Amino acid sequence: MSSTVAADRPPIDPYPLSPYVAWAGNRNRDPILHVFKEIFPQSGNVLELASGAGNHINHFAPHFPKLQFQPSDYNVEVFETIKQNRADQKNVNVADPIKIDLTAPASWPDPKVRLYDVIFVVNLFQVAPVAIADGIAQVAARVLTKDGFVAIYGPFKVDGKYTTQSNEAFDKEILAPKVPEWGLIDVKDLERSANAHGIALKKILDMPANNFILVFGRA
Ligand SMILES: C[S@@+](CC[C@H](N)C(=O)[O-])C[C@H]1O[C@@H](n2cnc3c(N)ncnc32)[C@H](O)[C@@H]1O
Repeated sequence: MSSTVAADRPPIDPYPLSPYVAWAGNRNRDPILHVFKEIFPQSGNVLELASGAGNHINHFAPHFPKLQFQPSDYNVEVFETIKQNRADQKNVNVADPIKIDLTAPASWPDPKVRLYDVIFVVNLFQVAPVAIADGIAQVAARVLTKDGFVAIYGPFKVDGKYTTQSNEAFDKEILAPKVPEWGLIDVKDLERSANAHGIALKKILDMPANNFILVFGRA
């Protein structure tokens, strides 16, 4: 999700197959790709959490032919769309999606099966409970390689404050429907969960439209 209201923006709707999520993904995926080209390793395994329609993973995969990409989501309804996107783009390095519910440890991947060099997630926190941060930290602690990292893209508050007026306006907009889990969270909330599981914030990268990529690794 972005924090700037554009004329062509569909109404906010977090359903992963909604026109809004597709619009946001089409807008942010190239700036994210630009950063990932700088920080991804040459080869290895990449896990995406909360993949939704698979817009991002299928857009990124052809740019990293020696990386193997694993999409996931807790909503199995999206799996066919992820596979359709993979087929449309003829991606050979994207696996079948797997179910990972960040609130359900029984669904988390087994480190004996595979470790991941990169875990990434796009636009989850503004429409999910803050407890999700704990799930991501625990999944990272389980399956991240020693030098691996987690990249989290989205709009966040920093030190309890909005970073721009447009982020504040965006937050008001998503708080309006009064869905308890919706709203911008603070980078500190993510850091607290990460630290509790041996994961530390390494970098905060500024992204267009007042978003960030937060990079975490093993402490
Ligand atoms: C706003 S959509 C973003 C989808 C995709 N990352 C994108 O940017 O296009 C949020 C996604 O988070 C997923 N999600 C919500 N709660 C989750 C949970 N507890 N565990 C895993 N995925 C979850 C939803 O199913 C949905 O696909």
